[in-house]
Amino acid sequence: MKTRIVLMAVCLGGGVWVGCHPVPKVEEVPKVAEAPQVTDVPKSGQVTYQKYCAACHGSTGKGDGDITFNPPVADLTSAKVYTQLAPQLIRTVHKGRADTAMGTWENVLSDQEVEEVVSYLRSLRDASEPR
Ligand code: HEC
Repeated sequence: MKTRIVLMAVCLGGGVWVGCHPVPKVEEVPKVAEAPQVTDVPKSGQVTYQKYCAACHGSTGKGDGDITFNPPVADLTSAKVYTQLAPQLIRTVHKGRADTAMGTWENVLSDQEVEEVVSYLRSLRDASEPR
């Protein structure tokens, strides 16, 4: 039910078309070597994450939040996420994922906040090593 409400909000949200269709799957996983290493993670990214994202994704990003979903939240520390380039993750956060609880954040967070939160996501992997 919650999923439906979120989905409707996405579809009504000022004609954001992309939100109403599955985001095309990116087939090629970029080589890890191409992904720039995040060295300087702004603290504000963590603050934004804890405020808006942790309820679902969990404070560690592993999907151990208070609420469970179907389909489940993504494990943000997984290879599936940390091998994506920042622009892909920014797009996912901006547009959300159709038919899931992952909503559209482009009207909630500024571009800078999204960039910072994505930098933070990309740092979560290190925090969870060794895997
Ligand atoms: C209402 C619960 C909820 C909230 C709040 C939420 N997410 Fe999500 N998120 C999900 C779900 C569910 C998925 C899995 C979507 C799927 O199956 O593709 C997801 C997927 C993602 C993905 C895609 C990972 C991949 O596999 O490529 C990213 C990135 C992400 N979330 C980041 C965020 C960020 C950053 C925030 C805070 C601004 C946030 N999420 C807030 C529920 C949530």
